[in-house]
Amino acid sequence: MKKHTLQLSFLAQTTDVNYRGTVHGGKVMKWIDEAGYALAAQHTQKYCVTKFVDDIEFKNPISIGDLVLVEASVLRSGTTSIRIHVTVASENLIEGERKDNCACDIVFVALDEQGNKIAITA
Ligand SMILES: CC(C)(COP(=O)(O)OP(=O)(O)OC[C@H]1O[C@@H](n2cnc3c(N)ncnc32)[C@H](O)[C@@H]1OP(=O)(O)O)[C@@H](O)C(=O)NCCC(=O)NCCS
Repeated sequence: MKKHTLQLSFLAQTTDVNYRGTVHGGKVMKWIDEAGYALAAQHTQKYCVTKFVDDIEFKNPISIGDLVLVEASVLRSGTTSIRIHVTVASENLIEGERKDNCACDIVFVALDEQGNKIAITA
């Protein structure tokens, strides 16, 4: 059965830090892309590449040591592409406070072994 959602969760590490002590925005974008890719590949059962990333809004910073929760869900499938919504939230494990950090949509395109786009509905 096709998967429509996927979650990643992990601790924000000291290696994820920016110049002010919170998580670097580029790291958050990497996590978003990874979660989106994993769901795109799992849902289509094909290798997929990132084609388009919609507006990203960084709503709140993520602190080092927080539990990061990245959730991806399929919005719609096209002929060769799939649009996935990804949210990022974080939780301070000591205080139990949870924050919404980021959200965006990503379009992935399925490719064959020659690198040509391929239908995902076969
Ligand atoms: C992915 C790639 C093979 C697509 O080739 P292409 O001929 O430009 O693709 P198309 O314009 O026909 O679009 C393919 C699909 O993406 C969708 N798409 C393209 N541009 C889009 C955009 N800006 N927003 C939303 N969807 C888009 C199209 O609607 C189409 O979907 P469908 O087949 O489901 O209808 C090619 O662009 C590529 O190799 N890009 C580099 C990918 C990459 O390296 N990514 C890693 C990060 S840099």
